[in-house]
Amino acid sequence: MKEETKVILDVDPGHDDAVAILLAAASESLDLRGITVVAGNQTLPKTTLNARRICTAAGITDVGIYEGTGSPLVRDQVTGEFIHGGSGLDGPEFSPAYVEVRDKGAVDFMLDELMEADDGITIAAVGPLTNVALALIREPQVKANVEEIVVMGGSMGIGNYTAAAEFNIFADPEAAHLVFETGVPVTMVGLDVTRQAEITPAIMKRLREIGNRVTDLTLEMLDYYRSTYKRAFDLDNPPLHDPCVVAYLIDREVITTKAMRVDVDLNSGIDYGRTVCDYYGRSGREVNAKVGIELSSELFWEILLSNLEKY
Ligand code: BDR
Ligand code: CA
Repeated sequence: MKEETKVILDVDPGHDDAVAILLAAASESLDLRGITVVAGNQTLPKTTLNARRICTAAGITDVGIYEGTGSPLVRDQVTGEFIHGGSGLDGPEFSPAYVEVRDKGAVDFMLDELMEADDGITIAAVGPLTNVALALIREPQVKANVEEIVVMGGSMGIGNYTAAAEFNIFADPEAAHLVFETGVPVTMVGLDVTRQAEITPAIMKRLREIGNRVTDLTLEMLDYYRSTYKRAFDLDNPPLHDPCVVAYLIDREVITTKAMRVDVDLNSGIDYGRTVCDYYGRSGREVNAKVGIELSSELFWEILLSNLEKY
């Protein structure tokens, strides 16, 4: 039997983060060591509450939630309110969250796990990279125990927060730069890939047909998310970004990748936060990442729906 991949899921919930949590907690292929929370789609108190709400609603009580960092390393804070609303998870009515955060900060938790892991831990980072960068700065020796950092963030093409930049990278470009420079294996699952995970009416129908409490909650979240994406981007079938990373850890066939040089633009111009991807190796500089190119959307939805069905 294939061994479970040990994963720390770093999130800023967020509707698609919420679905990523539900998928990661349900999958038998993953050993979900903990959920670490960062500010991003909303401020830290809100993203933390949202992680607690999701775990409460889904009955995820055996995975710790660890509150992390409330502001980016250098830049001023930005949020994803225009998509995720004032709470960061607008749409559903949540009952009081009884799942509490653990008594340890996210960065401490990451470092403790990494120090103890002799067989490597994968970090699935689907929010701004502040927590991850801080952990790697504080104890650089733990890099040896990082199996891989799989990032939802960046874009080879156009951005979604600015013309050039994707939200997670734009929200903390300096942290992203540090992560791409650390020398640990980084996989970038950017907008080029996640835009292929379209939430269509047919997908909504399949969720409705499953009809358990978690798919019902997912439907409520996605209804709201579809409405804000329509308003903000005039998209009928919005991308479900963050679960793409989790699905890739469950089955590598979901995303094809290409190794290349990725640099985060830190100049304070219109390209600030852009991931500059050297697809053709023109720079001759050292390759530092695998970049997602194509998503098998059929397999992606199969993995997601078959796991949500388990609740
Ligand atoms: C990313 O930004 C956030 O709004 C989403 O949760 C996702 O992680 C997409 O650009
Ligand atoms: Ca996110």
